Amino acid sequence: MRLFDTHAHLDDGQFREDRDQVVQQARTAGVELIVNVGCDLVSSRQSIALATAYPFIYAAVGIHPHDAANMGSGDWAVLAEMAGHPRVVAIGEIGLDFYRDRSPRPAQQEVFSKQLALARRLKKPVIIHDRDAHGEVMDILKRQAGGLTGVLHCFSGSWEMAQFCLRLGFYISIAGPVTYLNSRQLPEIARKVPRDRLLIETDCPYLTPHPWRGKRNDPSFVRLVAEKVAAVRGEDPAELAWQTLVNGCTLFGIPVPGYDPTTI
Ligand code: NI
Repeated sequence: MRLFDTHAHLDDGQFREDRDQVVQQARTAGVELIVNVGCDLVSSRQSIALATAYPFIYAAVGIHPHDAANMGSGDWAVLAEMAGHPRVVAIGEIGLDFYRDRSPRPAQQEVFSKQLALARRLKKPVIIHDRDAHGEVMDILKRQAGGLTGVLHCFSGSWEMAQFCLRLGFYISIAGPVTYLNSRQLPEIARKVPRDRLLIETDCPYLTPHPWRGKRNDPSFVRLVAEKVAAVRGEDPAELAWQTLVNGCTLFGIPVPGYDPTTI
């Protein structure tokens, strides 16, 4: 199986002891590409460092809604400079989180909007985090997503929201919760998303797929997401995995591994 984990946090402290081993194990398990996603300036910088150290890891840089209130005026120039790094393929993760509300909602909305503008200016896709803020995320996208592309990461909205995002030209990314035994709506959405708009991810070290819930998540577990999504769609897991890899390469502008256009 050839896999692309489009959303990982390998910079997380939970990988401090064995990060390189985790990366190598993922490669052995068929994970050919990873996008490591930043949440603040520090983790964005670490994402670039990982993407510089490993040729199959790419970086996204961005300010998570949890950290929106910590953005100082001088930080925007730092973020913009990092966003221009050649290994940075997206702005993310950005969005709204009204579940934990760690930053005041107006600050979340302002920082989200500014980063959408940054992505448009740099012509990079966005990776959107939406937790319990479906209506507000759609409102902002309706007004500000013109000229942008991106992905709704760890999708948790309704089929109506998925259709709205698909109409905007966005991708839908499915994470570990699709495997959970009490998961009803998400498998149904994973079944219905057009195959050329589907991505898969781990969001590791969080959201470990069944049957390993409670254990630390890592990119090798993206295989379990691929298998579950393939099962609900009645498709071959290897073909589904390959399709999501190609989709990820299309969205992020990454060459498909092993594909040499000069040989055609
Ligand atoms: Ni994440």
